[in-house]
Amino acid sequence: MAQRISLTRYLVEQQRVDGLIPSQLRLLLEVVARACKGISQAVNKGALGGVLGTAGSENVQGEVQKKLDIIANEVLIEANEWGGHLAAMASEEMDGIYLVPNRYPQGEYLLLFDPLDGSSNIDVNVSIGTIFSVLKKPEGHPGVTEDDFLQPGSKQVAAGYCVYGPQTTLVLTVGDGVAMFTLDREQGSFVLIEENVRIPEDTKEFAINMSNMRHWDAPVKRYIDECLAGTEGPRGKDFNMRWIASMVADVHRIMTRGGIFMYPWDKREPNKPGKLRLMYEANPMGWLVEQAGGAATNGRQRILDIQPTQLHERVSVILGSKNEVERVTGYHSGI
Ligand code: AHG
Ligand code: MN
Ligand code: MN
Repeated sequence: MAQRISLTRYLVEQQRVDGLIPSQLRLLLEVVARACKGISQAVNKGALGGVLGTAGSENVQGEVQKKLDIIANEVLIEANEWGGHLAAMASEEMDGIYLVPNRYPQGEYLLLFDPLDGSSNIDVNVSIGTIFSVLKKPEGHPGVTEDDFLQPGSKQVAAGYCVYGPQTTLVLTVGDGVAMFTLDREQGSFVLIEENVRIPEDTKEFAINMSNMRHWDAPVKRYIDECLAGTEGPRGKDFNMRWIASMVADVHRIMTRGGIFMYPWDKREPNKPGKLRLMYEANPMGWLVEQAGGAATNGRQRILDIQPTQLHERVSVILGSKNEVERVTGYHSGI
């Protein structure tokens, strides 16, 4: 049997052999993985664990919270609170930042997460996930403020997601390509299933919520119209469409076999740059996709170059197979 490499061993090798990650970061990623294991267990229990349905509350963005949104948030907070590697956390489900209780020395990292992505799919037993991003706490001052989190995605030191589907799979980058680990429930550990994940540069599959078509901007409409025209249109090939409504699951498909994912700005809420969140969704996914050879833009610029101005900032997202993302981005500048 081929040798099984656990996430723990993989991270130790990244630290020791490749010198890519400091031990504090390695331990932090172990804690996040453990939290994802806990969330996976809660997801698996479903109705038997009393975790389905709404919680009857709203988050800071005015979205109705599901019970699992809150449970997943608590699991991540509790797991990381006493780990000693973090200075503070920020979550899609919390209004402000969460300061890790004072200790000396203070943790060096900031953790950001979307605890449960794809909330609309929880009750219907369709894949959902957790997305996370790690930044370094800026040096030069004690304590942490919200401003410390406002770093562009290019400053991330680790990013990943865990998809809770037929398998629970953790996908991770520390800036040296993308690796995938599937949870072995009997052993209780994440096992490496693929290293150096690569997204094909071309694709015949797109993911977008087509019900918003009438609200789209002209460049997005043009791109999708051309895909829909198939062999008879300017692209000269037929396209397939998938839309799971869990970004994690859609991105995981793209990581596995290529494709383009779009949640663009649209005219429903013209004052909002988009639906998805820059810090908890677009930055970690953008970096993972780039690390796998794909591209991620907001139609005008690279996602990772955007300087955030607010913790819960939203953004237009176009990511996946490089040539397709460049094409849509080109359409936005009139190419
Ligand atoms: P979340 O459940 O964390 O709020 O995120 C849901 C996001 C994303 O996962 C998905 O791609 C998109 O919302 C689906 O939106 P529509 O329901 O508008 O298609
Ligand atoms: Mn989400
Ligand atoms: Mn969420």
